[in-house]
Amino acid sequence: MSSTPVLASTREELAGLLASARAGGRPVGLVPTMGALHEGHASLIRAARARVGDRGGPVVVSIFVNPLQFGPNEDLDRYPRTLDADLQVCAREGADLVFAPSVEEVYPGGDPQVTVRPGPVGKILEGKIRPGHFRGVLTVVAKLLGLVRPDVAVFGEKDYQQLTLIRRMVLDLNLGVEVVGAETVREPDGLALSSRNRYLDPEQRQQAVALSRALRAAQESAGYGADVALASARAELRAAPGVDLDYLVITDPGLGALPAVVPPGTPARILIAARVGGTRLIDNLPLTLGTAPTSEASE
Ligand code: PAF
Repeated sequence: MSSTPVLASTREELAGLLASARAGGRPVGLVPTMGALHEGHASLIRAARARVGDRGGPVVVSIFVNPLQFGPNEDLDRYPRTLDADLQVCAREGADLVFAPSVEEVYPGGDPQVTVRPGPVGKILEGKIRPGHFRGVLTVVAKLLGLVRPDVAVFGEKDYQQLTLIRRMVLDLNLGVEVVGAETVREPDGLALSSRNRYLDPEQRQQAVALSRALRAAQESAGYGADVALASARAELRAAPGVDLDYLVITDPGLGALPAVVPPGTPARILIAARVGGTRLIDNLPLTLGTAPTSEASE
């Protein structure tokens, strides 16, 4: 069973629709998205529903393609806008409210003068390749948190650096919301679901699976240490045609450097970014490292 969620496109509509939940003390769940919803987003909506649903609270899905997080040479105009299909996904997954504002509604005075600076973690990995990206992400997430004032906000682990930075922003700025990270949803062959997968032609789609295969190889050999895990991942990538690697790194779970000596059972994260055809893909997995030395744990 599914019922169509209420659609709000202005801040006033949103505030009005959330007023009764607030007055009744019911918790509000938020799933921020840029639309083009797929099964990965559906799992985020389900996670939000699981957190607030049993206390009768509403789940809000925001759909907003945020210009502030796109660089001048990135795919803002090409980014898929599929509101009708998105509303169907929201209805199917039991979202109560969809907030789909215009750019003018979110940035009434044009680009904001005050923005959120992501700090050092915003400068590595994706932040190095996409300067300004995380400033745009954190600024819009801060605005959405301010507009919706949710008790719980759910983000995918697929964008692991984004999730890490949002957690940090919420902590550092005392934003008073519980941030939930939801596990990446994958195709049966392992490819992480992404709105960008639609740009892959059939051959590239086959090639793209090398990313998750490399991460799995690292995961399986992580007991021998970070060096072995990285070597296993690289071996998978060497055997894969059509994958142009941007980075492959193992970090601690907060994206910091691993300690020089890694005690057995140390949690870590492996992250990859690569281009397949013209499409840039990212993925990551958790690792549990063994005792082998960790020198040169990145490339
Ligand atoms: O992950 C996304 O879809 C976006 O970066 C987000 C968090 C909705 C901010 O625009």
